[in-house]
Amino acid sequence: MRSRDADRFNHDPWADDYDRKVRDETNPIRAGYAAVLAWTVEQARIGPDSVVLDLGVGTGNTVALIPRARRVVGVDVSTRMLAQAPAKLSHLLHVELLEADLLEVFDRDLPVFDAVVSTYSVHHLDDTEKAELFRRVHGALRPGGRAVFGDLMFESEAARSEIAAAWSDEDRARVIKSLDEEHPWRVDHAVRHLESAGLQVLEARRFSVLSWGISAEKPDPGAL
Ligand SMILES: C[S@@+](CC[C@H](N)C(=O)[O-])C[C@H]1O[C@@H](n2cnc3c(N)ncnc32)[C@H](O)[C@@H]1O
Repeated sequence: MRSRDADRFNHDPWADDYDRKVRDETNPIRAGYAAVLAWTVEQARIGPDSVVLDLGVGTGNTVALIPRARRVVGVDVSTRMLAQAPAKLSHLLHVELLEADLLEVFDRDLPVFDAVVSTYSVHHLDDTEKAELFRRVHGALRPGGRAVFGDLMFESEAARSEIAAAWSDEDRARVIKSLDEEHPWRVDHAVRHLESAGLQVLEARRFSVLSWGISAEKPDPGAL
């Protein structure tokens, strides 16, 4: 199953400028970016023997923070974003970059993962697709493996309304309008969908008005 808006959100047109833009954390969309990426990698508990999947790897900024791993698979639809990743990942021995859709990739022959990470990509899936992604992530993880997401999120629908009301000036109202054209997470819905998929939510943490992280673990019935 390919996600509905994969072509619309393919970042080919923005790839050349992407890394410069994410460094500007005065932009409310970017505020918290560096901290979210660092937290995502830290929460994923990646060690030298870990097999890791990055969903929406883009130019490789999250994978670049992984000090070592046995194998990393990065997935993205954008040829031009992926083209920038290898230069940042030379410290990792075994990296595969797959040009594929976030959902469709699970129909491929993938290894079992110790950790699945994703930053600022899953808001390109609608809520039904997010729920499907969580089921696919659960299926791809080993028991005890971690799934960690950093992205643009509102705590709830009520929180979105409060922020939209407070951000009534022209610039920030435009931010809310453009976000509404994508699929920013609702933390409360996502926690329910993650739990329904069989993942145990460990933490939901806010990094800025719009940036959050959610970490989860696939329960290991064999663990003490
Ligand atoms: C905002 S960028 C985030 C990139 C990187 N993870 C980061 O944090 O800098 C979102 C990425 O998701 C990719 N993307 C969007 N929709 C996708 C889909 N359906 N399947 C695969 N990749 C997708 C885009 O091409 C883009 O590279």
